[in-house]
Amino acid sequence: MAASIPPGTSARFGQLASLLPDCVSTQEIVRATAGLNAPEGFLAVSDFQTAGRGRRGRTWEAEASTSLLFSLLLRPSAPPAELAPLTLVAGIAVAESMPAPARVRWPNDVLIEGAKVAGVIAELETPADRPHHVILGVGINVNQRPRELPPEARVPATSLAIETGHQQDRLSLLLEVVDRIQSAYREFDALGFPALLDRWNSVDELAGREVTVRLAERTISGLARGVDRAGRLLLQDEAGEVHILDAGEVERVEDAH
Ligand code: BTN
Repeated sequence: MAASIPPGTSARFGQLASLLPDCVSTQEIVRATAGLNAPEGFLAVSDFQTAGRGRRGRTWEAEASTSLLFSLLLRPSAPPAELAPLTLVAGIAVAESMPAPARVRWPNDVLIEGAKVAGVIAELETPADRPHHVILGVGINVNQRPRELPPEARVPATSLAIETGHQQDRLSLLLEVVDRIQSAYREFDALGFPALLDRWNSVDELAGREVTVRLAERTISGLARGVDRAGRLLLQDEAGEVHILDAGEVERVEDAH
């Protein structure tokens, strides 16, 4: 059935979907479906994951029926080397869908009032015999109570219920987020990341703040100066030199004044 929709269709993301009570990881569901030629926009949603994946080899844990856990299949036209901004593009869409003001901590954490409410992961696959694709995964803490959140998270965690004071409708939120991801992604695919720079700047959590970023073999501290046209973090050190970071993990952010 998946193969019956021709490539390039403007079908709505999520029109073809797998809705599961549980699974290992929605990333794995989409990976398997991509191998069967599923079209762009194929969606896997699960109420629980036994081995949810976060970035940098971390796990993503959420009690059953508390969160939104989903993955989308993307078949971008840009070459693999130009796809790094995809997590930022999805982060913008997720932040803009939140029922409370949210910001994105480069490259993929969505925060409300300094606490993490959602995360994005983009896994690129480059099969030898077919065009590349990306599996975009999103986890949103929706209805968790404080005791249901991981206590020792790298960034303190929160949920939408905690931040808004009431439980949220997960299905409505899912439809809203998926639609917004589709629209932001289409813009990125047609015009590139520069078309989304203003929107990024509106949700950028780091710009103008002193931050420390862990790179592969060292850490670097400086003033965050936004991102460049390729979505790379610009960090100005004490000597005034601007470092252009294409990967890294923000370890510390100075409080906003
Ligand atoms: C991160 O902040 O490190 C990214 C977390 C992404 C978690 C989501 S939950 C749905 C999808 N399936 C997974 O296994 N991971 C992503």
